[in-house]
Amino acid sequence: MPLSKIAGIGMYVPEKVVTNNDLKKWMDTEDSWIQERTGILERRLAHRTEETTTTMAVEAAKIAIERAGITAQDIDFIVFATLSPDYYFPGCGVLVQRALKMKEVGALDVRNQCSGFLYAISVADQFIKSGMYKNILVIGAEKHSMGMDYSTRGRNVSVIFGDGAGAVVLQPTEKENQGILSTHLHSDGGSAEILAQYNPGSHANHWMETPVADFDDAEVGEMFMSHAMIDKAQLFPFMDGPTVFKKAIVKFPEVIVEALTKNGYTTEDLNLLIPHQANLRISQFVQQKLKLRDDQVFNNIMSYGNTTAASVPIALCEAWQNGKIKEGDLVCLAAFGSGFTWASALLKW
Ligand code: UT7
Repeated sequence: MPLSKIAGIGMYVPEKVVTNNDLKKWMDTEDSWIQERTGILERRLAHRTEETTTTMAVEAAKIAIERAGITAQDIDFIVFATLSPDYYFPGCGVLVQRALKMKEVGALDVRNQCSGFLYAISVADQFIKSGMYKNILVIGAEKHSMGMDYSTRGRNVSVIFGDGAGAVVLQPTEKENQGILSTHLHSDGGSAEILAQYNPGSHANHWMETPVADFDDAEVGEMFMSHAMIDKAQLFPFMDGPTVFKKAIVKFPEVIVEALTKNGYTTEDLNLLIPHQANLRISQFVQQKLKLRDDQVFNNIMSYGNTTAASVPIALCEAWQNGKIKEGDLVCLAAFGSGFTWASALLKW
C-alpha cells in the first residue's frame, strides 16, 4: 500500500498588514497586552470586498499545484477546511472546483476549525492509500475578518485571529520510507460551547441554560437570524480563552507523543514540530513540556496571528520555503481547537 506525500505546497496571505497598534483605532487594547499574552505582533486582514476565503484558497492552491508539477485538470478530489466559508452553503470546495476550471471531481468540506486541516489531510490520506485518487488538493483557508467584533467588547477574540490560506497536493509516494506515516484524530464535544459561533444556527437555545440567541421578535422561519440577535451582538464568535488554553496545553503534547509512539519514534527523533498557531505561549508550553529545542519547533504566529484551519499549512509552507525542512526529515503537524477537536500527523518529508 503506497503512503501519501505532500507533492506541492502553497500559501497566500492578504497584503494588508494590521499591527497591534493599528487595532487601537477600533478598540481599547495595548500592543504590550497582545504581545505578552499571545506573541502576536501583526496579522493580515483580507480586502473587505475583493478577497474571500475561496479567492485566497485559490491563490494558495495554484502555487501548490504548480509545485507538484501538475495542472488543475489533474486534481481528482478536493478537501477544503474552513470555519469562515464564502456561503453558509454550498461549501468552498465547489467554488475552488469552479474557479480553477477543474473536472467534475468530488469536493468535500471539512468543519473542524483549528484542527480542520489535519482532519482534511487525514481524509485525503485514506483516499490515496486506498488507491481511489492520485492527486488530492487539500486546503485550509479563513477570512475571519468578515465576522469579528473589532470593538472593545470583542477584543479577547478578535485581536488573535488573522486571514490567509494554505494548500497542499497529496500524491502516492514512489519512495520507501517517505510520506504521511499516520494521522490521529480526537474530539470531546463536552466543551463544544467553550469556543463557538452559535448563530446563525438551528440550535434554538437547546444546549445551554443561558440562552445564546434572542428570538423574541422572530417567527419560526426567522429563527436562524433575528433582528434581536443583531441588536444584542449575538452573531460574533465566543471564546472562553483561559479554558481553551488549559485544555490545549494538555492535548497538544498528548497527540504529538501519540503520533511519535505509534511509529516507534521519540521527541529526540523529531526534526520539526509545526503546531497550529493558536498562541505563541501555547507553543512554548508544548515545547517545554516535550523538552524540544528551539530549532525543533516552527512558529510564525507573530506575523499572521491565528488563522485557524489555514495556520498549519501556512506554517508548513513557510518552514519549507525557509529551508527548515529537508528530504527525509521527520515532521509532526498538530492542532487543537474548537469542538474540542485535536489531531496530529507524522510525516517523513
Ligand atoms: O485556535 C483556537 C484556539 N484558541 C486558543 O487556543 C486560545 C487560547 N487562549 C488564549 O490564547 C488566551 O486565553 C487569550 C490570549 C485569549 C487571553 O489571555 P488570558 O491571559 O487568558 O486573558 P483573560 O481572557 O483571562 O483576560 C485577562 C484580562 C481581562 O481583564 P480583567 O477582567 O482581568 O480586568 C480582559 O478583559 O485581559 C483583558 N483583555 C484585554 N486587554 C487588552 C482581554 N482581551 C484584551 C485585549 N487587550 N485585546
